[in-house]
Amino acid sequence: MEDNILKDFYDLFAYKKTGHLTKYGYLGKVDYYKQILEKEEKYYVSKSEIELIHNSKIMSDIIKDYSIFYEIGPGSRYAISKKTIPFLSHSNKLKKYYAIDCHKEYANAAANVVSSYFKDIKAKGICLDITKKHNLSVEPKSCVFMLGTCLANLTNEENISILNSIRVLLCESSVFIISFDTTQNKQVIYNAYKNNSVYQFYLNMLRVFGKSTLSKNFDPELFSHLCEIVESSDDTKMQGKLVANKSQSFTLGNDIISIEKGAQYHLVNSRKFKKNYLQTLLSFCRFKVIDVIKQSNNNLVFFILKK
Ligand SMILES: C[S@@+](CC[C@H](N)C(=O)[O-])C[C@H]1O[C@@H](n2cnc3c(N)ncnc32)[C@H](O)[C@@H]1O
Repeated sequence: MEDNILKDFYDLFAYKKTGHLTKYGYLGKVDYYKQILEKEEKYYVSKSEIELIHNSKIMSDIIKDYSIFYEIGPGSRYAISKKTIPFLSHSNKLKKYYAIDCHKEYANAAANVVSSYFKDIKAKGICLDITKKHNLSVEPKSCVFMLGTCLANLTNEENISILNSIRVLLCESSVFIISFDTTQNKQVIYNAYKNNSVYQFYLNMLRVFGKSTLSKNFDPELFSHLCEIVESSDDTKMQGKLVANKSQSFTLGNDIISIEKGAQYHLVNSRKFKKNYLQTLLSFCRFKVIDVIKQSNNNLVFFILKK
């Protein structure tokens, strides 16, 4: 972890990489992601997903006959109670639930929450970075699912890599269910992200770095929030940035870094994919699209896939 922090924050402050810090937002004592979901009225992404999980008859019909479930990236307790439990509740035969997450606490907490809600099932947390080489393969006839539009924070190359890793997990008899946000309205996207909870989520990334033994004299509070929306042929992208309010110098590993007032740092991307991009990505990764679930009043979609 510490080695990754050194490289990730060096890359940020040296402008070598952008939009790669989302994973640090979830760390630490305060659950800032939960605050976004609970406090921000205009953060439509989770609301739309929760609504779809609860109300989709098609989703329920697909899930009801599966007994073995693998969730990739369950996230915080809040997401588990609002999304995972209702998702699993569609099953009439639930027997096993495995939570796969690169953060051990998330994987174990998900297994605990699920097993205390559904009595008499087997639940287990698996700590695994899905993008790294692994030997895990799922049991036949299982349902693998990934909620929270997780690919939205990744680059095209990372999306291909993560989907290829997930494909390796699957059997011919497995189904894979994944959510995407396809909203293209720039004002709606801006309103969802330009708020204090998202700002705190970004500052938390800097706070995690500030608390690391690899940094010295770094003040994470001296930044303000900038949200830019950029459109390309693949997506409409929210670029989450922090702008230095003051100059400061600090130590990062063996380097002294000086940043000037006004310097902009691009921490996060939230990509709202265009339909053509998704079709091309999924067929490039050799997934068969079995169904696409969508409600007419929002742009959150679930793809039902097989290998
Ligand atoms: C966007 S959150 C989604 C959380 C939750 N499912 C939701 O709907 O709100 C991403 C989750 O995936 C996990 N994660 C991110 N990258 C991962 C990786 N490479 N391997 C395994 N888990 C990962 C994070 O720890 C986090 O729990």
